[in-house]
Amino acid sequence: MSDIAKLQIGENSYEFPLIKGTENEVAIDVKTLRNATNGVITIDPGYKNTGSCVSGITFLDGEKGILRYRGYSIEELAEKADFLEVAYLLIFGNLPTSEQLEKFHSDIKSNSVVDDDVKKIVDAFPKTAHPMGVLSSLTSALTAFNPSSVDVDSEEDMYNSVVKIMGKFPVLVAWTMRKKQGLPLNYGSKNLGYVENIMKMMFEQPNEDYVINPIIKNALDKLLILHADHEQNCSTSTVRIAGSSHVGLFASLSTGISALWGPLHGGANQAVLEMLEAIRQDGGDTKKYMAKAKDKSDPFRLMGFGHRVYKNFDPRAKIIKKAAEEVLNDLGINDPILEIAKGLSEEALSDPYFVDRKLYPNVDFYSGIIYRAMGIPVEMFTVMFALGRLPGWIAQWKEMRTNKEPIGRPRQIYNGENLRSFIPLDKR
Ligand code: CMC
Repeated sequence: MSDIAKLQIGENSYEFPLIKGTENEVAIDVKTLRNATNGVITIDPGYKNTGSCVSGITFLDGEKGILRYRGYSIEELAEKADFLEVAYLLIFGNLPTSEQLEKFHSDIKSNSVVDDDVKKIVDAFPKTAHPMGVLSSLTSALTAFNPSSVDVDSEEDMYNSVVKIMGKFPVLVAWTMRKKQGLPLNYGSKNLGYVENIMKMMFEQPNEDYVINPIIKNALDKLLILHADHEQNCSTSTVRIAGSSHVGLFASLSTGISALWGPLHGGANQAVLEMLEAIRQDGGDTKKYMAKAKDKSDPFRLMGFGHRVYKNFDPRAKIIKKAAEEVLNDLGINDPILEIAKGLSEEALSDPYFVDRKLYPNVDFYSGIIYRAMGIPVEMFTVMFALGRLPGWIAQWKEMRTNKEPIGRPRQIYNGENLRSFIPLDKR
C-alpha cells in the first residue's frame, strides 16, 4: 500500500500522509487539511471513523475480539495478574517488579486518607442521590482539598498525583455506598492488599470483624482488571479532552465519571440488571423483550448487547460469563436472573436481527450478576465500573499531558440562520 492518501476536491487534488500503528492499523493524517484546502474540514458524528490520538496503552481489534493492555492479552491478565499490577502496567507502561509494586502500594496507602471535612460533603447528599452523581462530585471536591497543581514535566509530581488518587478514590467509592446504606464512614486497614482493603471499606459492618471471602476477592480482582481500560471510549475521551485544557487530574476524572454514568456506556450494567429483574417479575418471557428490542417504534434496547467497536464478540463478556457461573456456584447462590440472561443471550445469538447487526453480549451483560452476588446494590454497579476504569483514565490523561497534545477543540458545519437584522421587541 502506498503511504499517501489522495483527495480530490473539484479541480484540486491534495495528498495526506498515512500513519500506521504497530498492529498495522492505518489512518489518514488530516492535520494539514483545513489549511491546505482553505477551510475544508471532515465531519464524523460519534467519531465512528475518527482517531483522536496516537496511543500506546490499549490495543483493541473489534473484528477479531482482541483486547490487550500494553501488549498483554486481557485473558492472560485476568487469569494471572492482580488489579494493582494491572494499574501499574497501564499507568507506567510495564509490569512492575516486586519492589516497584511494593513501593507503589505503600505510597498509595500513605495517601489514602481523605480530609475529614469530605465527610460533611457526603453527609449533605440525600440518601436517595445516585452514587455516580455523588462520586463525580466528591472526586471534583478533592481538588479543593488538594489544590496544588501538577507539574506534568516532573516525573515525581506525576507519580505523586497518581498515588494520591489511587489511594483516595476507593475511599470515596466506599463512602458513597455506605452513605446510601446508612453505615458509618470508615477507613480500611494498611495491612491489607489493595482490593481486600476496598472490600473491607465497602462491606465491613460496625459491629463485627470483616472476614475476606477469597471467592469474592478473586472475582472482584477480575472484574476490576476487565474494566481497567478500553482505549478511546466515551468517558476516556472525555477525560482526555477535559485534561487537554490543562485542568488537573481530579477534575478531569470527575468529568469521566459523569460520562460513564450514561446507560449507553457504563450505566448499562445497572440497566441490564434492572432489565433482567423486570423480565423475571414479568414472568420470565424473554421472547416478549426480544420483540420489543427489535421493534423500531419501541425505544427499548436489549441492554448489555452491542458495542461500537466489537463486531464479533466482546472478549471481556466471555471471561465474565464464566466468572459469573463460577461465583454463583462457589457461593451456592441460585439466582434465577442468570438463567434469564443465558436464555436472552442464546436467543439473540441466533436471531437474524442481532446477527445481521453484529450485536453480541458486552462486558456489562453479566457483570451485574456477579456484583449482585457480592451484595453490592444495583445503583453501585456503575461506581464499580468507575473504580476499575480509574487506572485507564489516569494512564490516558498522563499520556495526553506527557505527549503535550493540543487542546481538544472540534470544528463544526454551521446550518443555522444566515445574518439577519435585529427586530425590536415591539415590532415582533
Ligand atoms: N438492542 C437492540 N438494537 C440495538 C442494540 C441493542 N442493545 N444496539 C444496537 N442496536 C441496533 C440499532 O438500533 C441499530 O439498528 P439499525 O441499523 O436498524 O438502525 C444498529 O443496531 C446499530 O446500532 P447503533 O446504535 O448505531 O450502534 P452504536 O455503535 O452507535 O452503539 C451501543 C453502540 C453500545 C451504544 C449500542 O449497541 C447500545 O445502545 N447498546 C445497549 C447499551 C449497552 O449495553 N451499552 C454498554 C456498552 S459496553 C460498556 C462500555 O464500554 O461502556
